[in-house]
Amino acid sequence: MRKPQRFMTLHRHILEGERKHPEATGELSALLADLALAAKVISLEVNKAGLIDILGFTGDVNVQGEQVKKLDVYAHETIVSAMDHGGHLCLMASEEEEDIIHIPKHHRIGKYVLLFDPLDGSSNIDANVSIGTIFSIFKRKSPDGTPGTIEDALQKGVEQVAAGYIVYGSSTIFVYTTGEGVHAFTLDPAVGEFLLSHENIRIPEKAHIYSINEGNYKYWHQGLKNYIKHIQDADNRGEKPYSARYIGSMVADIHRNLLYGGIFIYPADKRNPNGKLRLLYECNPMAFIVESAGGRAIDGKRRILEIQPEKLHQRVPIYIGSKEAVDMVERFLQEAEE
Ligand code: AHG
Ligand code: MN
Ligand code: MN
Repeated sequence: MRKPQRFMTLHRHILEGERKHPEATGELSALLADLALAAKVISLEVNKAGLIDILGFTGDVNVQGEQVKKLDVYAHETIVSAMDHGGHLCLMASEEEEDIIHIPKHHRIGKYVLLFDPLDGSSNIDANVSIGTIFSIFKRKSPDGTPGTIEDALQKGVEQVAAGYIVYGSSTIFVYTTGEGVHAFTLDPAVGEFLLSHENIRIPEKAHIYSINEGNYKYWHQGLKNYIKHIQDADNRGEKPYSARYIGSMVADIHRNLLYGGIFIYPADKRNPNGKLRLLYECNPMAFIVESAGGRAIDGKRRILEIQPEKLHQRVPIYIGSKEAVDMVERFLQEAEE
């Protein structure tokens, strides 16, 4: 006989989580539900991306006479329009927009701040390789009812009240945390719902995978070169060597490492002293998720979540993943500096 469905949808899970906190107003749940809707819309569009050439929409103008938008711009606009009228936000900021995004005047101003990378790994879109959306949520610092300010966006990662990502891969998966466990929901395309697929994810303490763009080896600092050499030499010490896996979409690389155990690195190097990835849209939310799953995330010296952001699009180096692996790379970096 078929087993009855558990029907643990994303929405129900969030509501049940919130009920454990009697002081909760339900606003965060509503905000996450709006985000899940945006994710479904983006997922649909991502799945159609390959059809654009076949259906002849290659020019700048589509059949309706509208501009054909690049998928990252489409994702950005979808999230803004799904989120700006819900009444839960006072401010947004996106990797795709230079300045903070205010809530339109006639809409209710809420108490949360949403920072996001609408489409991560965008260079992979045309090759049908996994991409994602990353988000980070804070409570505002400025007074309630007033328009949000840049200070609301420039908060340390430790202040996050929730963070998550959506991977558009072989399935679409929504992963989130409010700091109490990391949970993943897989989109059932027939039902149109995200259903609980991985509850309380814990990242394995030991890593078996390393993920870094090794093409940049020449520009790395000595400590990192020593560390990568050390893990590649594992079988000389009678240990199983790590596997190298690098998709080039941070969100997909970290999702895999979260499940299997691994370390993802985007370092500072001789060309890019601050690395490449953005503190607010990529590193903070991923660090909050990985730490909530038992892992670590540092910029080489400091905990990512304790960095005081100075500007919206600030970049930081990142070493993130299984605890033992991040401890080890930290030692290699320190030793090379001594
Ligand atoms: P985005 O598509 O949002 O600009 O981010 C791309 C990022 C990140 O997802 C990935 O880990 C990194 O770029 C890959 O960079 P390299 O091509 O330099 O390895
Ligand atoms: Mn990105
Ligand atoms: Mn992006």
